[in-house]
Amino acid sequence: MSTTTPFSQATDAAHAELLGRARRFTASQTWDLDHRFPLVLDRASGAEVWDAAGRRYVDFTSCSGAAPLGAGHRPVLDRIGAELARSGGILPGPLSTLRVELAERLAALFPVAERSVFFRTGSCATTAAVRLARVHTGASTVLTSGYHGWHDWHLQDRTPMGPPDRDPQTHDFHYDLGLLDELAAAHGPVAGVIVTPEVNFFPHAYARALEEATRRHGALLIIDEVMTGFRYATGGYHTAAGLSPDLITLSKGLANGTALSAVSGRAQVMAAVEDTYLGNTYQREITPFAAALATLDALADGTALARASAVGDRLIHGLNEVFARHSVPAWAFAHPTMFDVVFADSGLGHAFFQQMWSRGFLMQYGGRFMPSAATRDEDVEAAVATADSALAAALEETDTSHCDGDLLTAAVRFAGERFVTTPATVERWFDGADRQ
Ligand SMILES: Cc1ncc(COP(=O)(O)O)c(C=O)c1O
Repeated sequence: MSTTTPFSQATDAAHAELLGRARRFTASQTWDLDHRFPLVLDRASGAEVWDAAGRRYVDFTSCSGAAPLGAGHRPVLDRIGAELARSGGILPGPLSTLRVELAERLAALFPVAERSVFFRTGSCATTAAVRLARVHTGASTVLTSGYHGWHDWHLQDRTPMGPPDRDPQTHDFHYDLGLLDELAAAHGPVAGVIVTPEVNFFPHAYARALEEATRRHGALLIIDEVMTGFRYATGGYHTAAGLSPDLITLSKGLANGTALSAVSGRAQVMAAVEDTYLGNTYQREITPFAAALATLDALADGTALARASAVGDRLIHGLNEVFARHSVPAWAFAHPTMFDVVFADSGLGHAFFQQMWSRGFLMQYGGRFMPSAATRDEDVEAAVATADSALAAALEETDTSHCDGDLLTAAVRFAGERFVTTPATVERWFDGADRQ
C-alpha cells in the first residue's frame, strides 16, 4: 500500500518546472538533490509532508530531528503567535524575559546547564563551545569525533573538502580512544574533547571511558547533544549515560523546528564568555524563545518522547520482520527514537530506500529514523506494509550475489561512512551498544 497521492501529468509537469527553477537559482546538486530527494517540498503537518505537486509523504525524521513534536505543533504555533503579538517580535537588546526564562528551564532540565548562551544553529553552538573551551583553558588543541556542523574548524579530517587552511589545531580521533591518547600526547595540552554520541553503535560504557580519557588529559568534555538532547532521553544523552560534561550543545528539538541553539554548561567554564565575543543579533528575536518554552512544556511529562519511542519500536520490529521474510541480511536496530538501518549490501539498502521514498516514505539509506510524536499509527503500518513491496522491487533491480551478510562487517562499513570512525573502534564497542 502506498500513501503517495496519485498525481496527474499536469501536476508532475508543474513540479518538474519548479525543480528546474530550483536547480537554476538555489539547489545544490550534491547536497539538496543527490543526498536528499529530487523534490521541492511545500508544506508539512505532524509527520505528513506534501511536495509542490501536492503529493503526500510520511516523514520519519522529524524534519531531520528538528521537530520532535511534529511539524506545525499547535501549542507551539499558538505560543509563537501570542508572543509575537505581545512583544513585537524583536527587541533592541539581547536580554529578554523569555531568554531568561528559557535559560532557567534548561538549568532545571540539565544539571550541567548552570548557564546558557543562545544562537540560531547547531553549527554556531558547537563552534561557540569550542571557543569557550579554548578561552577557559588557554589551550588551543581540540579533539573531536562525529558531526558538529559545517564550520571551518570541523572540516579538519573530512574527505577532501573545505578550504586548504582548515583549522590545524583540531584533530579528529574518529571515536578511537587509542587515537585520542596519541593525539593528546602529540598535540597537547588539549582544551576540549567534543563528541557527538553515536547511540546505536557505542554503549554508555564507551562514553564513560571517553570521559575518563578526557579528564586524564586535563581537557574539558563537550557533549554535542544537538541531535540527542531532546530525543534520546529526558535530560539528554549525558544524563542517561552518567556523564558530567563541562559543556553541552543543544538545538534540534529545543524549539520544535524554529531555529534556536544553546551552549550550556558549568558556570565556571561559561564565564569564558566575558573574555571572548559571542554576540549575535538574533538573540533579540522572540519567536525562537517562545517556541522553545512551548516545546519544553509539551515535552515535560515525557509522553511525547514515549510516543516517538513506541513508533520507533513498531518500525524496528516491522522492518526486521520484512527483512527476515525476504531473507535479506539487513537490520533496524537500537534506540527507538533514533534508530539506524544497516544493510549487509549497501547497494540494496540504497535501492530499498529509493523505492520507499518514491512510494511516499521520505528516507534515504544512511539517514537515521527519528520518528516524531505526531506520527500516526496508520502511517507506521503503511510504511511496514510498503517496505515489503519496496524490498521485493529493490531485490529485483539489485545484484546481491557478492554479499556476505555479516552484521558486524556491515556495521563497520556503515559507521565508517556515516561518522568516520575506525573499524577497530566499532569492533571493540558495537556488541555492547544498547541494542534492545
Ligand atoms: C550532532 C550535531 N551537531 C551539530 C549539527 C549542526 O547543526 P546545524 O545544521 O543546525 O548547524 C548537527 C546537525 O545535524 C548535528 O547533528
